Formats: sequence, structure tokens, C-alpha cells
Amino acid sequence: MSVTREMMKVMKLEELKPQIGKEVRVGDESVALFRLSNGEVRAVSNRCPHKNGPLAEGIVSGEFVFCPLHDWKISLTTGEVQKPDDGCIRTYKTAVIDGYVYIGGLKEHEKHHSDR
Ligand code: FES
Repeated sequence: MSVTREMMKVMKLEELKPQIGKEVRVGDESVALFRLSNGEVRAVSNRCPHKNGPLAEGIVSGEFVFCPLHDWKISLTTGEVQKPDDGCIRTYKTAVIDGYVYIGGLKEHEKHHSDR
């Protein structure tokens, strides 16, 4: 994947330990980054749709994260909350280039605020 203007560099890949979530602030948004056991990187909203649990602190299993507050199971690929619960969180595009993690799908004002 090529880096376009829509992608933003957020951290070094080595700072993202497998299955340990990490929060990054992008503008006024909190994004949870994860590196799955298969090495793929995912980025989703860090706010659980139930009661805003910080998903970056959840337990990762396969492609899912379990919210640290009440254990809702959420897909890191589609953002969908798994049954019997219901809801959806925002997902972001990700890319790893030259040892850095990039995320995309941000709104214009978010990119602007977080340019470093
Ligand atoms: S806040 Fe996430 S399950 Fe309740």
C-alpha cells in the first residue's frame, strides 16, 4: 500500500507489542492501535460503544478485543460488536511502512490538528 496524503504516521511499529493495545490521540479522537498475533495492525475507535470503555486496554484474542470494563467482544476488522451485544465502532485503515505505523480514514480537521 502506498502512503497517500490520507495516511498519517502515528508510531513506530516496535512500540506496538503483539496483542497489547496502544492509544493514540488524533485531533480530538482517541484511537486504539493493535498488532494481532499474525502481525497485522488494526486501528479502531478507543471508545467502547457500551459505556466508553478504553478498548486499547482490552484483551486481544485473534481479531477481537474484549472491552476491559464489561467484556463486550468487538471485531478489530469490521468494528462490529459480537452477539449477544450490539453496536459498532469506527475502524481506520492501517499500513506499516519502513517500520512505522500509519492510519488513514481520518477526517480533514483531525489530520490538520495532528500534523507534527
Ligand atoms: S464499556 Fe465496554 S463493555 Fe461496557
